[in-house]
Amino acid sequence: MSAYQYQIKNFPLDNDALLLQETLFHNANGYIGVRGNLEEGYPEGYRSIRGQYINGFYNNVDMPQAEKLYGLIEEKQTMVNVADTQSVRVYANGQEISMLDSRAGERARILDMESGVTERSFLYNDSDQKLRISITRMTSMEILPLFLIRYEVASENCSASLRFESLAKGDVMNFFDPSDPRVAGEACRHIVVKSAEHRDGITFITSETTKSGLQVTTAVKNVLSGESFRETIPEETQVTEKITADLAPGETVTFYKYAVFCDSRRYENTLESAEKIMKEVCALSPEVLYEQQKRYMKNFWESCAVDVQGDEDLNAALHYNLYQLIQSAGKDPRSNIAAKGLSGEGYEGHYFWDTEMYMQPFFTLTSREVAGNLIRYRYTILDQAKENARLLGHKKGAAYPWRTIMGKECSGFFPAGSAQYHISGDIAYSVAAYYLATKDLAMLEECGEEILIETARLWMDIGNYYEGKFRINTVTGPDEYTCLVNNNYYTNSVAKYNLYWAEKAYRLLENAGLQQRVIEKTGVTEEELQEFARASADMYLPYDEKLGINPQDDSFLQKAVWDISTITEEEKPILLHYHPMYIYRYQICKQADTVLAYFVLEDYQDEETMRRSFEYYEKVTTHDSSLSSCIFSIMASRLGFEDKALAYFGESAKMDLFNTHKNTKDGIHTANMGGTYMAVVYGFGGLRIKESGLSLAPHLPKTWEGYRFRILYEDSRMEIQVDRKQCRVKLMEGTEKKIRIYGEEYVLKDILTVEFENREIPA
Ligand code: BGC
Repeated sequence: MSAYQYQIKNFPLDNDALLLQETLFHNANGYIGVRGNLEEGYPEGYRSIRGQYINGFYNNVDMPQAEKLYGLIEEKQTMVNVADTQSVRVYANGQEISMLDSRAGERARILDMESGVTERSFLYNDSDQKLRISITRMTSMEILPLFLIRYEVASENCSASLRFESLAKGDVMNFFDPSDPRVAGEACRHIVVKSAEHRDGITFITSETTKSGLQVTTAVKNVLSGESFRETIPEETQVTEKITADLAPGETVTFYKYAVFCDSRRYENTLESAEKIMKEVCALSPEVLYEQQKRYMKNFWESCAVDVQGDEDLNAALHYNLYQLIQSAGKDPRSNIAAKGLSGEGYEGHYFWDTEMYMQPFFTLTSREVAGNLIRYRYTILDQAKENARLLGHKKGAAYPWRTIMGKECSGFFPAGSAQYHISGDIAYSVAAYYLATKDLAMLEECGEEILIETARLWMDIGNYYEGKFRINTVTGPDEYTCLVNNNYYTNSVAKYNLYWAEKAYRLLENAGLQQRVIEKTGVTEEELQEFARASADMYLPYDEKLGINPQDDSFLQKAVWDISTITEEEKPILLHYHPMYIYRYQICKQADTVLAYFVLEDYQDEETMRRSFEYYEKVTTHDSSLSSCIFSIMASRLGFEDKALAYFGESAKMDLFNTHKNTKDGIHTANMGGTYMAVVYGFGGLRIKESGLSLAPHLPKTWEGYRFRILYEDSRMEIQVDRKQCRVKLMEGTEKKIRIYGEEYVLKDILTVEFENREIPA
């Protein structure tokens, strides 16, 4: 298998396997996402989540709270399933062709990550008449509204009369499952068709959301080589086209289905735009579109160039995860990266802290454009974050919503939702991280410092001084199995950093004479800046003398330990089997919390405290959240637990391909995918970018021959290659840079090599 291909052959046809494939082989480009459903549909009895989504395109949905306490959220946004353009039924001599038919064999599905397409193929063998079916799908990275299906029927030995029935269907619903809190629980019609029309050979379906007042037009055009007859059947909410062609022995008939999506958040007139784009697309040959895609992917792979040498499976899994990141990331400031990307309806298309802490680092190091948009997105919702803070009772500052699409809080369960105040600190952290990697003062001036100040104000309002220390009470940290606690170590750490950077970034702007805009926008005063700096310096970070560790919060260590080895397979994840109150009463963690704080803010503790804490938390963490194993891998690398680092890395890299969390059918776990990247670059590579500059401390797992990655740092691009003998850093473009490797300072001018001969390279 190529390192840039994921393929499966002669797979089982059971429902679970097919549902999983719908996610694993979805196509997306950050704007649209199409699940890997079968064009021909599924026979009776099969369950499929048929879906096509637009990033940031949502409906508002009532979320009534049984007990009407003040400020509880009663309306949420949900990502909408839009018109279905996937359906193509094909008949050969009157017989319908389906991969699920007993006459179909040699089944294969491929994700080709160099071409940026998925392929599905099978051999249809009816009374010794053999037809090879190959279906290629692409969501264009260059023309974001475009989804293209190429359906080829090749004759191996017979002639056939073919009929293609292509459907554009506006009457669609979202998926729901009342038994799983991680997807929508209720059936709901989010979108209604306003018009379905067919003119100039193009079908247009225009639909409106029921409550959010958004509109989307889907245009579809069917093109068949050797077409002999066409019939168009318009109905109220859909249009079908039946097109026939004759297939001669040894020849191939090719059918193209073009679909263009334009939504009213991006296009003023969705119908006109869809028509214009469709005409432009059809003026190009499909080969040009495929070439564009290849070029885009080539640039993408060249920009990150992440490889593991010596473990092919792991390498392919790593590439799979990186590919999903570029498929999922919003390409404009109106959208972000959903927890499931655009691959499914889990978490309803919501954006979480997952972006800033798990995925943005990849883009900051490889694509400034995407990373910049992610920050700008948070800026576009800053006013709503301020409103949210008021709703929560804060007189000042901005409290970013825990989960959202267009800026309003969508979490109905505040103890593990709005109470996760750390998201505001995470967003602030990502602004500082972006600055440290880019030294882009213009971004701080444009929006970054405003975000830093408004989030810092929030901490000043939440927290209070007690016995000389600044404390933050009644919040929930990242670990959702421990809610509403005082002085969560992680939260206090990111708040400390947030307060520090609000003042620090101001000084940077002031030194460059660029502070005026920030003063005008925020009204920040010298006194306030000093208060930030003081609270940061005085921030209380809990420490337990007896154990020599940082307790996750003030009460964590007082609780009984839940021996996680007693949890049976059927009880996993425990969130689906135990009342939250019961879980909260134990020392049991869903995910990395204090251990994550050590990764992102390692200078707040000494090595020994971090080591003892790592070992402590490892014993009480279930990793029921997909955001956990990657962080344990990074910290295991950092602390020299090499075998653990590799084991956790494997868990992270293969999570979706092996469906280890058993819910990949609802979508990929994008944060974990970013985490897989971080486990290579920050974990094994030991990369850190701080105020003191860029540093590396590479480790090489015993079973690998080497690894490499490319990163952007300030105005330079560099490649880092580590193998058994050496660590080699190559300056690919830009100016020379100071780099610290294992604590020693070097100047990177061209190529810098650190031999391992006289140095004990870990592992
Ligand atoms: C995790 C959160 C995460 C969310 C979305 C939850 O299971 O506990 O940390 O933000 O999933 O990925």
